[in-house]
Amino acid sequence: MTDISKVAVIGGGVIGGGWVARFLLNGIDVNLFDPAPDALSKVKSMIANAERSYAELFGVDAPPKAILKFTNNIEEAVSDADFVQESVPENFDIKSSILSEIDEHTSPTVPICSSTSGLLPSKLQAALKHPERLVVGHPFNPVYLLPLVEICGGDLTAEKTKTEVAEFYTSIGMKPLVLRKEIDAFIADRLMEAYWREALWLVNDGIATVEEIDDAIRYGAGLRWAMMGTFQVYRVAGGEAGMRHFLSQFGPSLKWPWTKLMDVPDLDDHLIDTIVTQSDDQTGAYSIRDLEHIRDDGLVGIMKALQNINWGAGELLTTYEGNLKKDNIPDTFPDTKQPLALHKALIKSSWLDYNNHMTEHRYLQVFGETTDKLLALIGMDEEYLKSGHSVYTLETHIRHVQEVAQGEKISVTTQLLGLDEKRVRLLHVMTLDRTQEILATAEQMLMHVTDKKADKFGAPLAKNLAKIWLEHKNLPSPDFTGLGIRTL
Ligand SMILES: NC(=O)c1ccc[n+]([C@@H]2O[C@H](COP(=O)([O-])OP(=O)(O)OC[C@H]3O[C@@H](n4cnc5c(N)ncnc54)[C@H](O)[C@@H]3O)[C@@H](O)[C@H]2O)c1
Repeated sequence: MTDISKVAVIGGGVIGGGWVARFLLNGIDVNLFDPAPDALSKVKSMIANAERSYAELFGVDAPPKAILKFTNNIEEAVSDADFVQESVPENFDIKSSILSEIDEHTSPTVPICSSTSGLLPSKLQAALKHPERLVVGHPFNPVYLLPLVEICGGDLTAEKTKTEVAEFYTSIGMKPLVLRKEIDAFIADRLMEAYWREALWLVNDGIATVEEIDDAIRYGAGLRWAMMGTFQVYRVAGGEAGMRHFLSQFGPSLKWPWTKLMDVPDLDDHLIDTIVTQSDDQTGAYSIRDLEHIRDDGLVGIMKALQNINWGAGELLTTYEGNLKKDNIPDTFPDTKQPLALHKALIKSSWLDYNNHMTEHRYLQVFGETTDKLLALIGMDEEYLKSGHSVYTLETHIRHVQEVAQGEKISVTTQLLGLDEKRVRLLHVMTLDRTQEILATAEQMLMHVTDKKADKFGAPLAKNLAKIWLEHKNLPSPDFTGLGIRTL
C-alpha cells in the first residue's frame, strides 16, 4: 500500500491545498481538481509555505518535490490515481455527489478518503458502488505540518481499508488515529468544540476578552498540552500517588458549576478504574520524576522555539532574560591591567555530545558570545550597526584542552594580542569555575567594516580598544598563541 505514487486531490482550498503540499513534498505526484479560477495560485502559495517549513525541518534530506497536474474534471484527476483525498466544502449534498463521481471513475481497490470535519462516513458511503473503500481521513490545518489525521470508517468500510490508509499516512510522516467507533466530529474536534463553546460563553458573559482567553491557553495549559495531552498532564499532577489520587482530589469539582458544560459522566468506580488502567498502559513505564523531566525539557524546548520567533511565551522569556542579563553587566569598565573577565556560562544538557561532554560547536558559541560582549563593551550598539559599521570575524583557532560536563559553570576572559586601525586579535581563555583549570582557548582575528568593506574602527570603538591595548600590550602572550593547527 505504501507504494502509492500518485494521489488525486479533489478540492484545493485550505485543507486540499495542504494535502497537495504534503503529498508533493513527500515525493508523491498529485492530480488536483478544483473549479475555482484562483485555486491553482492559492495552492502554489500553500506549497511555497510548506517548502519554507520543510527546509527548516529536513534541510537536504527532504524528498525531491513530485509533479502537480491541474486537471479539468474529477474523472481526469482520479482515473490514474492510487489514492483519492476529497476536500470539498463541508456540505453533505456536495460531498455525496462528488464522492459518487469519484467512485464511478476509480478502480474499486483505490481508497477514497474524505477530509470532512464531522460528517459521518456511514452516510457519505451509502450511495457508493464500492463503499468498503471509503473512510474519513480528517487532518488538521496546516496539513503539511501537523501530523495528526483521524481515520474513521463507516458501517460498510472494510477493516483492510483503514489499515492500508493508516499505513500510507504513516509513510508520509503523519500520526493516524483510528477511531474505535463512528461518532459525529470524531475525537479532536469534539475536544476543541467543548473548549470553543466555553470560550464563547466567557466572551458572551463579559468575563474575558478574546485576547485574555487566548493568553489563558498560550502561556499555560497550551504549552503543556503540546507535550502531553490532558491525561498525562493530570497523571503527573497527581504526583507519586498518580492518576487515582488525582481523580479523587479533583473529581468532586465535576459537580460544581466550573463550566457551562454540566452534562458530565459520573466519576464512579468503573470510570475511575478505566482511566487509571488506561493511564498505566499509556505511561506506566515512566516514573513521575521521569515524566516531570520529560515535561520540563519539552517545555524548555517549546519556549526556546517560541523565543526564536519572538512570540507569546517566547517573547516573554526574551524580555525576562534581558533583565537578568542586565543585572549581570558590570557598571564600570573592567580592569584592563589583566585579561578582561567578560563572560560566564552554565553547561546545559542540550550542549552535550555522545560522550556526555560539551559538543564542539558549543565552544564556538561560548567564544562568540564572549566576542559579542567585548564588542558591546567597546561601544558597538544598534545605532553603530545601523550606520553601516560592523565587525567581522576573519579567523578562529580553538584549542580543546579538557572535557567539561553538564551543570559545570565556566568563565571566559579576553586578552588583546594585537591591534591596528582596522583589526584586532583576541585570545579568549575558557576556565572551569570549580578548579580554575583551562578548558579551551580561542584566538580570533576580527576586522572592522563599513558597508561590508574593511575600514578603520570608528568612535567609540577605536578609543576603547586603544584604552585596553595600552595595558594588554604589556601582558605576556602565551606560547601557544600565533600557531596554526599542529601537523602530524
Ligand atoms: N479548515 C479547516 O481547518 C479544516 C480542518 C480539517 C478538515 N476540514 C474539512 O476539509 C474540507 C474542506 O475544507 P476547507 O477548509 O479546505 O474549505 P475551503 O472552502 O477552503 O476549500 C474548499 C475547496 O473546494 C473547492 N470546491 C468546491 N466545489 C468543488 C467541486 N465540485 N469539486 C472540486 N472542488 C470543489 C472550492 O473551490 C475550494 O477551493 C471540509 O470538509 C472541512 O470540513 C477543514
